[in-house]
Amino acid sequence: MTTVAASLLAPEAYRLPGLIQQTEYLCNGEIRHWDGPCREVFSPVCHDGRPVAIGSFPLMTEDAALATLDAAVRAYDQGRGYWPTCTVSERISHVEQFAFRMQEVREEVVTLLMWEIGKSLGDARKEFDRTLDYIRDTIDAVKELDRVSSRFVIEQDVVAQIRRAPLGVVFCMGPYNYPLNETFTTLIPALIMGNTAVLKPPRHGVLLYRLLLRAFQESFPPGVVNTIYGEGSKIAGPLMASGKVDVLAFIGSSRVADALKAQHPKPHRLRCVLGLDAKNAAIILPDADLDRTVTECLLGSLSYNGQRCTALKILFVHEALREAFLEKLAAAVSALPCGLPWEDGVKITPLPTLKQVAYMRELLDDAAAHGGAVVNPGGGQANGTLMCPAVVCPVTPDARLYREEQFGPIVPICPFTDLDEPMHYVTESNYGQQVSIFGADSAQIAALIDPLVNQVCRVNINSQCQRGPDTFPFTGRKDSAEGTLSVSDALRVFTIRTLVAAKQTDENKRIITEIVREHQSTFLSTDFLL
Ligand code: G3H
Repeated sequence: MTTVAASLLAPEAYRLPGLIQQTEYLCNGEIRHWDGPCREVFSPVCHDGRPVAIGSFPLMTEDAALATLDAAVRAYDQGRGYWPTCTVSERISHVEQFAFRMQEVREEVVTLLMWEIGKSLGDARKEFDRTLDYIRDTIDAVKELDRVSSRFVIEQDVVAQIRRAPLGVVFCMGPYNYPLNETFTTLIPALIMGNTAVLKPPRHGVLLYRLLLRAFQESFPPGVVNTIYGEGSKIAGPLMASGKVDVLAFIGSSRVADALKAQHPKPHRLRCVLGLDAKNAAIILPDADLDRTVTECLLGSLSYNGQRCTALKILFVHEALREAFLEKLAAAVSALPCGLPWEDGVKITPLPTLKQVAYMRELLDDAAAHGGAVVNPGGGQANGTLMCPAVVCPVTPDARLYREEQFGPIVPICPFTDLDEPMHYVTESNYGQQVSIFGADSAQIAALIDPLVNQVCRVNINSQCQRGPDTFPFTGRKDSAEGTLSVSDALRVFTIRTLVAAKQTDENKRIITEIVREHQSTFLSTDFLL
């Protein structure tokens, strides 16, 4: 079947014009054409049980990737380039221009999110809009930060101005589940604070970046944003090994993050901003409101097929509620509409690859071998990449589902009688992102909150785990994260506090006054951004 015909699987508004042969990459402000080998891109959407081909992207060589990194290094120019030294308001206007251009391709990006990662139309639109909101909020936060830093402080006869300065070249990689949003939650703050960047889109969710190349090119000075494509194992390692990356902004697995970090020759010079693995648990107490708990657990574990780092990936249910909870949850799961991303009201959509479906099967078989059963009718059955979610109970500590991050439509249930069981689970887990507690007794919930806040970085009460609102800190302990991302925290992680200080002599007062009055410096300045 040809791709154009495959595209007919979608309503006219969401059809692809044909195969998207993406050969362009952005280097030093030029859109260059790659004429080397390319990799075919397959959609999660299947025809006759096989994922359909929708295009291809460059498999750049190490040399080409390193040449692109050099463009970012030159644009930063050891902190002397235009971008790290221009005013905050200049940088804001470049980012505003980019946001305006990005808005123009909303529908095309949304369509590609559906085709490339199988995200439902509603969720794809949310991802796009949330990203634009994030950019706007970031601009506001930068202005606020700049206002606070626009004054001098005087302590012990020393006068100083303290600001946040950029770190250098950022190597930015986002995940396939939020290829636009999560990549931009690091890229935009990094740029607006004066860093330059090399961006590598995730393997799924790569073609949509083609729509943004021209906007990047026309909105930012040459070399400030550069893109590379290819196999992470072939090009990301050499970039790190070059020692020219100052910040690794990576959202993906801790295994890959560790491998990348280890290749940097000067580890102390590398700042890492990492969003990694998680296996967030829900602890469902005997007095939990059943309806609310089922609604939140359904959202928490199966939104976008469970492919969220924040998803609830294991549910500890008190034995007293086990039967009623399972019955309601199984019914709610069975009622979730499964289908193609553009179908009205669809909740469960195809997984990115057949390999991912096979992995789900392995986990289910392993759980069955350890006494677990799928409790919802049809759970775990798959047609190509479309898999009916499976609620599995009981999941015992020796089952792989107990510890592996499934990142897919499986809801593992662990019944418990003693609260030490879920507490032990969270404490012993390699991950430390979030947890959800469901219950009504404030004293019991409080007794859980206090130890749990020292194990994870967000405790949710009668609510699913989630990243948003994006102004809240988003981070994790153990193998789940490094650095904190929120709109304002992200401005901090991509910068370092730097100050200009002088003893309060008459001569120094004269110099500082002249610099400020004559606008001789962009750093030493009292200009107030409105
Ligand atoms: O995949 C991880 C995302 O940051 C989750 O964001 O909780 O808003 O879906 P979300």
